[in-house]
Amino acid sequence: MGVRVPPGIRPGLASGRLAHAVEVQAVHDVQIYSDLMRAVRIQRFGGPEVLEVAEIEPPQPEDDEVLVELRAAGVNRADILLRSGSYHDAPPFPIVPGREGSGVVLGVGPGAAGLRPGDRVVGVVGSPGFYAEQIVVPAVRTVPIPDDLGWAEAASLPTAWLTAWYCVRRLGRVRPGETVLVQAAASGVGDAAVQIAKHAGARVIAAAGSDEKVGWALEHGADEGVNYERHDVVAEALRITGDRGVDVVIDAVGGRVFPSSLKATGHGARVVALANVTLEDSTVNTRDFYPKNVTIYGFQIANLMERGYDPRPDLEELIPLVADGTFRVHIDKTFPLAEAEAAHRYLEERRNRGKVVLVPGS
Ligand SMILES: NC(=O)c1ccc[n+]([C@@H]2O[C@H](COP(=O)([O-])OP(=O)(O)OC[C@H]3O[C@@H](n4cnc5c(N)ncnc54)[C@H](OP(=O)(O)O)[C@@H]3O)[C@@H](O)[C@H]2O)c1
Repeated sequence: MGVRVPPGIRPGLASGRLAHAVEVQAVHDVQIYSDLMRAVRIQRFGGPEVLEVAEIEPPQPEDDEVLVELRAAGVNRADILLRSGSYHDAPPFPIVPGREGSGVVLGVGPGAAGLRPGDRVVGVVGSPGFYAEQIVVPAVRTVPIPDDLGWAEAASLPTAWLTAWYCVRRLGRVRPGETVLVQAAASGVGDAAVQIAKHAGARVIAAAGSDEKVGWALEHGADEGVNYERHDVVAEALRITGDRGVDVVIDAVGGRVFPSSLKATGHGARVVALANVTLEDSTVNTRDFYPKNVTIYGFQIANLMERGYDPRPDLEELIPLVADGTFRVHIDKTFPLAEAEAAHRYLEERRNRGKVVLVPGS
C-alpha cells in the first residue's frame, strides 16, 4: 500500500476510515492517507448511467482550504443538470458532482483560520465535488455544526434550505399574516420554504404534483394544498385568499407553472423564480403582474456566491434552528455513494419528498 501525508497541512486524527480498501494508520499523531479514495464521477454527459464509481487521488488542501472526510452529500437538481449537460457552468471532464456535504475535518491549510482537525463541518462548493470520500473546501465555505445535528440533515442545508431561507426571508420578506404559495411544496426547496414561511407567521398554500405530495406537505406544516396537475392553482389561491391573491410565491418549478405564480398574486406581491425544472419556456402576460405592482425576483445561489455572497452568516443562523428542532429537514432517502445512479433516478422520477442524500461511508 502506498501511503502519503498531504504536504503543507496540519494533520489530525479522523474518527472514521479515510479511504476505500486501505487501513488507516496513525504515526506520531500524524494521519497517513491512502493513495486513492472512492468518488463518483462522470466522463461524458448523459443519463444516470454515466455516474461511475472510481478510485481517484484524494485532494490536498491549499493554503486557505480544509480537507474534509465526508459523511453525507446532498443530491440536488443542479447535479442532474450538470450530469446531463444542461448546467450553465460545467467544469472539464472528469467531473465529480456534488455541491454540498458534511463531515469531519482531517486537516487544514496554514491559512485556514478557525477550524481544527476533528471539527464537524458542513461545506459548500469544493474540489473535486461532494460525491466522494474526501473533499477540500475553502475555509470560507465551511461552517461548524453541533454534535446534535445529523450528518444527512447538515448536508442538506447549503443548497435547498439556504435557498428557501434566502428566498422566503430576504426576497419574499414574508410578514406575519401574509399568504405564501409554494410551488413544488414537497421538493427539497419546497419543504424548506413551507417551514420557513410558517415560522415567519405566514399562511402557506402548498402546490404539488400529486394528491399524496399535497397531503405530505399538509402533514408537514402547510395550511392549504392544491394538486397542480389536477386543479387550477390560481382559482384555488384566489378562493383561499378571498380573491385578494397571495402575497408571496416561491416558485421552485418554473416553465409551464410560472404563469400561474404570476396570476395567483395580489397587490404588491413578491414572486421568487428560482427554477426551471423542465427547461421549458414560460408564456406570461405582463398584465398578470404590472397592474398589481408585483415584484419578480430571480434567484440562483451559485451565481450569488460567485458574486460575493458569503453563505456562512445565514447558515450560522439556520443551523441552530434545525438542531433545536424548530425546523425539520426531511431526509426521504439515503443511498450509499456507490448508488449515486439510483439516487439520481429517484429524484428525476419525482419520487422524493424532501431531501435525498448520499452516504460515502456505507
Ligand atoms: N436557484 C437556485 O439557487 C436553486 C437552488 C436549489 C434548487 N433549485 C431548483 O429548484 C427546484 C427544486 O429543487 P429541489 O432540490 O427541491 O428539487 P427536487 O426535490 O428534485 O424537486 C423538484 C420538483 O419539481 C417538480 N416538478 C414539476 N414538474 C416536473 C417535471 N416535469 N419533472 C421533474 N420535476 C418536476 C416535482 O414536484 P411535483 O412532483 O410535486 O411536481 C419535483 O419533485 C429545482 O429545479 C432546482 O434546480 C434552484
